[in-house]
Amino acid sequence: MATNLAALVVLAAFLAGPAACEGASICFNGWLRLPTYNPWLCSRGSRTRGLPWQRGRSPSGLGLGHGYYDNRWSRSYCPRAEVIVRGAVRDAVAAYPGIGAGLIRLFFHDCFVRGCDASVLLTTTNSNNSDTEREGLPNKNSLRGFEVIDAAKAAIEAACPGKVSCADIVAFAARDASYFLSNRRINIRMPGGRYDGRESFANETDQLPGPFSNVAELQASFAAKGLTSDEMVTLSGAHTIGGARCMFFSSRFSEMDPAFAAKLRTQCNGNDDTNVNQDDVTPYVLDKQYYRNVIDRKVLFTSDAVLNSTDTMTQVRENANRAGAWERKFERAMENMGKIGIKTRADQGAEIRKVCSRVNN
Ligand code: HEM
Repeated sequence: MATNLAALVVLAAFLAGPAACEGASICFNGWLRLPTYNPWLCSRGSRTRGLPWQRGRSPSGLGLGHGYYDNRWSRSYCPRAEVIVRGAVRDAVAAYPGIGAGLIRLFFHDCFVRGCDASVLLTTTNSNNSDTEREGLPNKNSLRGFEVIDAAKAAIEAACPGKVSCADIVAFAARDASYFLSNRRINIRMPGGRYDGRESFANETDQLPGPFSNVAELQASFAAKGLTSDEMVTLSGAHTIGGARCMFFSSRFSEMDPAFAAKLRTQCNGNDDTNVNQDDVTPYVLDKQYYRNVIDRKVLFTSDAVLNSTDTMTQVRENANRAGAWERKFERAMENMGKIGIKTRADQGAEIRKVCSRVNN
């Protein structure tokens, strides 16, 4: 099913020619296993090439604040908001750790498309007749954790209606999932104050880097959001938890550590939709094991393996070897990611949604 979808995207882009990569049209080349590079299909990294004048500034996060819902004198006062999210995430992760991985990824996929505005949660938009981000190639049949966000939102609405945005709930949930999955070693200082957007478009998910991306493309896509190459390497460390489908790595068994590849071959057993653990060593712990795996060629995607190249190798080694270094960098990088393209009360159309999957009327 997903393979067919990918083939359709390739065909559509091929028929449209190079123009397929311009403007708002789709160009998911980092997400497609292309047999050979075809310049007519999409110029690699065209949407996100990191030319200096195209790079985003480091996100300022102006309008966000720590303890945002704790100020008794503000109209956003909702002192139990963060406690409720933490409780919902704690219970969900205790029941099933994979959900924690889903929540961390949800935050990344929200922030990289239209900023951290909960656009990734929408099933309806301001503009009718449009597929939302949930239908986009990187997200469909893949993102998870929506029900944890919905449960937290329902409990928060019951406590203080109309005050806490879905975008903040996604950010707090990612923070809390990181905390529990790291055995409380990762403690992100996540500010609040984001507002929710009213638009979400499936084709804009092509801004997400894909598993077949090379280092330059990864750096460019992060630079386009105002994040550094070091932050890209740091955040990729999240691939020490959760799972991935075989379709994204079965073409590169021969490039992996032979024993690791043999195990994966057996697990995948020729089925592209099979899901396997990303980290074979500590699959349920958010730790720096990922960087050891990169060095040992025990990672799944091209986008993981290429971090062992000259440009990024030093950071990989430092993260692998220096105790506590990666954890502190991950805390800062997650906080910074949470500042990308935020909407505030003053932004036209921004709102506090009543239900996270729907815009308000
Ligand atoms: C650097 C570029 C990145 C690429 C190319 C990438 C790609 C992917 C892909 C292809 C999957 C598997 C999806 C599937 O099989 O359905 C995945 C899973 C995952 N990614 Fe990334 N990712 C990147 C960065 C990140 C970042 C920045 C984070 C968070 C900080 C993240 C967190 C995760 C997590 C936790 C999972 C497992 C999700 C689950 O089990 O539900 N990734 N990623």
